[in-house]
Amino acid sequence: MIGLRRGLVHGAKIAALGVSIPERVLTNAELARTIDTSDEWISSRTGIRERRLCRPDEATSDLAVAAATDLLSRNGHHAEDIDLVISTSLVPDTLFPATASIVAERIGAVNAGAFDVQSGCTGFVYGLATATAFVSAGIYDTVLVTGAEALSKALDWQDRSTCVLFGDGAGAVLVRPSDNGSIFAFDLGNDGSGAPFLNMPAGGTRLPASHETVDDRQHFLRMNGREVYRFATRRVVESCQKTLDDAGVAAAQVDLFVPHQANLRIIEKVAAQLGFSDEQVFFNLDRFGNTSCASIPLCLHDAMAQGRLKKGDRLLIVGFGAGLTWGSCLTRWEL
Ligand code: UT7
Repeated sequence: MIGLRRGLVHGAKIAALGVSIPERVLTNAELARTIDTSDEWISSRTGIRERRLCRPDEATSDLAVAAATDLLSRNGHHAEDIDLVISTSLVPDTLFPATASIVAERIGAVNAGAFDVQSGCTGFVYGLATATAFVSAGIYDTVLVTGAEALSKALDWQDRSTCVLFGDGAGAVLVRPSDNGSIFAFDLGNDGSGAPFLNMPAGGTRLPASHETVDDRQHFLRMNGREVYRFATRRVVESCQKTLDDAGVAAAQVDLFVPHQANLRIIEKVAAQLGFSDEQVFFNLDRFGNTSCASIPLCLHDAMAQGRLKKGDRLLIVGFGAGLTWGSCLTRWEL
């Protein structure tokens, strides 16, 4: 049942999907009324037109719980059957306990273990790989992976170079055994030398919270956009190519390519280098911005709704982000 070689795993599938989309829409035009930016700059540099914001009283776990509840209500699965809850997020509720513990308790997953995966915006792909490994190894039958972000709570709304890019939302998938030998090919990578390029400087053990860290606005997301852009365009292509090669699948045989939704220019550049046509590539960042760990499941949901992702399709997903980390996965869509 288990992997034939590194990165290749048989016997697991995505068996259910759910999402949570906050109601509040923040347009570029509205942002331009509060900071020195413009719809023209944001949409031409990133492709983003609007993003969603959670309510002031909502945290990451609230969005994750909503996505998991949506998943359970649509697909007839029961919370008591879940063996493991993996929560992925750039900005968890608190440093500890794990957001997954709160999610499991709130949805009634009373028989589940729970832990968080922290790999920046690549978290969803890392979480999916972890869930797949547990299921393929026969350790667990039913693993819930959430990708949820209340990122608006961690943005410096005075910093135009970051606050225009991100948004809130959540998705959840259930990984279960597959009886028709579905294959997951994965590639997970990390280059910790890029850690300073995307981080939240204070609030951990390196720089505990103090009056000074608050005054210096060090409890918000900080990013060197140019460095992350350079990293992303290179590593994403390499990772996708490796995953395709490991699975023995050509780019032309991929039905849908769903990259992390950080910037339309990155998506177009990467897609062109991999040889994908426009029809093969999915994006929705124009409506959601960069929702970090939620971006891929939100795309999967939209792609299904639009009839662009169908049962039996070959799906390639890729994430990248803080760490700097990256991860890609090829699978057959079974929903
Ligand atoms: O999920 C995490 C992964 N994150 C990413 O993948 C982000 C990757 N990076 C990017 O997508 C791009 O680097 C950005 C969209 C963040 C920035 O685009 P850029 O073309 O690299 O712009 P820049 O940072 O080089 O800035 C160009 C100019 C600067 O002005 P000067 O110095 O040329 O006068 C900035 O101050 O644009 C200015 N600028 C803005 N102007 C209007 C930066 N942000 C804004 C803004 N509105 N919001």
